[in-house]
Amino acid sequence: MSRLDAPSPGPASSRVVVMGQGYVGLPLAMRAVDVGHDVVGYDTDTSRVKRLASGESFVEDVPAAQVSAALASGRYVASSSEDCLADFDVAIITVPTPLRDGNPDLSYIQDAAVLLARHLKPGATVVLESTTYPGTTEELVAPLLEAGSGLRAGADFHLGYSPERIDPGNPTYGFVNTPKVISGIDEASLAAVADFYDSVVDRTVAVSGTREAELVKLLENTFRHVNVALVNELAMFASDLGIDVWEAIGAASTKPFGFMPFTPGPGVGGHCLPIDPSYLSWRVKRLLGQPFRFVELANDVNDHMPDYVVRRLVVALNRKRQAVNGSRIMLLGLAYKRNTGDDRESPAIAVADRLIRLGADVRAADPHVADDHLDGRVTRIVLSAEEVAAADAVILLTDHDAFDLDMVAAQARYVFDTRHRLAPGTNVEFL
Ligand SMILES: NC(=O)c1ccc[n+]([C@@H]2O[C@H](COP(=O)([O-])OP(=O)(O)OC[C@H]3O[C@@H](n4cnc5c(N)ncnc54)[C@H](O)[C@@H]3O)[C@@H](O)[C@H]2O)c1
Repeated sequence: MSRLDAPSPGPASSRVVVMGQGYVGLPLAMRAVDVGHDVVGYDTDTSRVKRLASGESFVEDVPAAQVSAALASGRYVASSSEDCLADFDVAIITVPTPLRDGNPDLSYIQDAAVLLARHLKPGATVVLESTTYPGTTEELVAPLLEAGSGLRAGADFHLGYSPERIDPGNPTYGFVNTPKVISGIDEASLAAVADFYDSVVDRTVAVSGTREAELVKLLENTFRHVNVALVNELAMFASDLGIDVWEAIGAASTKPFGFMPFTPGPGVGGHCLPIDPSYLSWRVKRLLGQPFRFVELANDVNDHMPDYVVRRLVVALNRKRQAVNGSRIMLLGLAYKRNTGDDRESPAIAVADRLIRLGADVRAADPHVADDHLDGRVTRIVLSAEEVAAADAVILLTDHDAFDLDMVAAQARYVFDTRHRLAPGTNVEFL
């Protein structure tokens, strides 16, 4: 940590509760077990808990063998039972923070805090990790914990916020070697939060308050959201101007300072880009009465990318005197991110929906996304030369390594490549 001197390490083994065993909570729980803590992975989703308890994993970065080893160590329990929360030393909240009708939905955080409050003991530490607007830890979580426990935040228990930076599928930066920003509502809380995170990550970075820590996450995601929107809009103009935007981005990236490459795509998915910046703009509007114009503009550009993808396909088919209606269109990739099975808010779903509404026969291949996640109107296929050859058009939406793109280029009548992965050819167009 960089602000306070590191306190002496806490008890070698704390009793840790991780509320939520998803993309964020499960890797954290596994790491906490690895370093010797006793961990309860609490989740309200009983089927998820059942799978974990039988040694299965549904998060790419956590192998099933790691879950099995954690269970075998006797230091990991996956549970939906409130009894397991008793007597915790440290509780980390990693529950979802979606938008509902465009507004932050903090009900999952509320539920988790209410539950934890019933088991809060003096001296325990609670940390919120879910992405949310600045003020949530002190204005929402603290009062709920106090009301349910009869204890006082700061005086009787420690409270802090630490933004999650997990990047599913990233082979270089994982939970342990990505610096972790930490905060507390006071000095003692910060020290207690640091005590826990120093035991599980290589480096912690302390900031002075929970609001600053909450803003860190939103700043990081808004930065990416805005820059992705910038290159998406540029890609659309460059296409109309007959300029190769990909070549320009590649060349600009050779500048060793002052430029960071972002690449265009069919839209943004997951949680970080489509949702998190809206938490910030909602808060700014609510407290200051002002629009956060960069976020609104980025939302507008990125939200319309699936429409642009469909428009480019319509134009391509039109050149061949074909209509989308009745055409067989193959979508390559449904996940929002390469080499993952995460299809939350995926632009591929929006592209499929628009094509189906135009009357296309939509088929989709994605080796990572589970079958039951698919829109029933989309025919699920396995990528093969026959399927590619039989399609009127192929749209590459997610560039999973598992796809044989040379075969696709060789067999396809037409490919619209939104990721710039194929070699140029007369049958290939790029976003
Ligand atoms: N996935 C990412 O890459 C990522 C990265 C950074 C931050 N985040 C943030 O972390 C938070 C969690 O995201 P995630 O991707 O892990 O979500 P997720 O949906 O994968 O997992 C959340 C889990 O919490 C469980 N849950 C819901 N209510 C609960 C409750 N009251 N008590 C206990 N468990 C409960 C759900 O059943 C689910 O299993 C969100 O705020 C998200 O914005 C996610």
